[in-house]
Amino acid sequence: MTSENRIITSGLSYAYPEAGKFAVHDVSMRVKNGEFLAILGHNGSGKSTLAKLFNALYVPSSGNVWVCGLDTRDDDLVFDIRQHAGMVFQNPDNQIVATVVEEDVAFGLENNGVPAPEIRLRIDEALRAVNMEKYAKKAPHLLSGGQKQRVAIAGVLAMKPDVIILDESTAMLDPSGRREVMNTVHRLNREEGISVVIITHYMAEAATADYVIVMDEGEIAMTGTPREVFSKVEKVRALGLDVPEMTDLAHLLRQDGVDVRADVLTVEEMVEEVCRLSSNT
Ligand SMILES: Nc1ncnc2c1ncn2[C@@H]1O[C@H](COP(=O)(O)OP(=O)(O)O)[C@@H](O)[C@H]1O
Ligand SMILES: [Mg+2]
Repeated sequence: MTSENRIITSGLSYAYPEAGKFAVHDVSMRVKNGEFLAILGHNGSGKSTLAKLFNALYVPSSGNVWVCGLDTRDDDLVFDIRQHAGMVFQNPDNQIVATVVEEDVAFGLENNGVPAPEIRLRIDEALRAVNMEKYAKKAPHLLSGGQKQRVAIAGVLAMKPDVIILDESTAMLDPSGRREVMNTVHRLNREEGISVVIITHYMAEAATADYVIVMDEGEIAMTGTPREVFSKVEKVRALGLDVPEMTDLAHLLRQDGVDVRADVLTVEEMVEEVCRLSSNT
């Protein structure tokens, strides 16, 4: 264990009681300090189970998980582990517990015995970090989905985590809500050095990560930078996933004999490629 890693799993497997097979099988991976990691995979490939193993919600059937050096098998460390690794789930309505935004953010802290003046500071700081300070006294049910997820992120941030795990936390949001949440986690990653793990079905979101892990049948099927992973279009498709739109377009153009790079991810990069080609002719 070195301080370069926030989460390490080694030979990690998990089977639900009474299930005939492993939901997660022999997964060895790491989340590095400051890394922005995306975990992809079709439905049922084991992503949520893996996320719950990161957070000590589940104990490994075999193998290990260490969160900032803490072994999730150790019952006495569970509370600590959840402070280091905070989870944001899919449905914002299921994670907001209080009737006032700032009370919701304070919830974990109060349970944790943090002194009141310190709680006040942490609430203000966390709400500022997700750009929701103006809503501190508002009722959560009046907020948009994106705003609610930002409050949920603030609740995690108030615990001063080293890593935030978002399990399809943008899935129920409209495009602007998705953008708000993604911008927020990218900024926290960049400016606060918090490691981020996103589980997502949106390939455009995955394309913004430093590193991608693709799961299949509970196992790791592919790893690499988004460019490395998505340029293997056929393999990604065989795993039941799409590639980003511009990667798909590049793939089609190459099939027609157009000499664009195979690893284009964004519109900007496609524009560059098209300009390069037209200046060559
Ligand atoms: N609570 C549960 N009890 C039994 N089996 C489960 C439970 N949750 C998930 N599974 C099974 O574990 C496997 C992995 O599920 P999950 O981790 O939810 O995948 P994903 O998040 O990638 O969709 C699937 O086969 C799923 O049916
Ligand atoms: Mg899931």
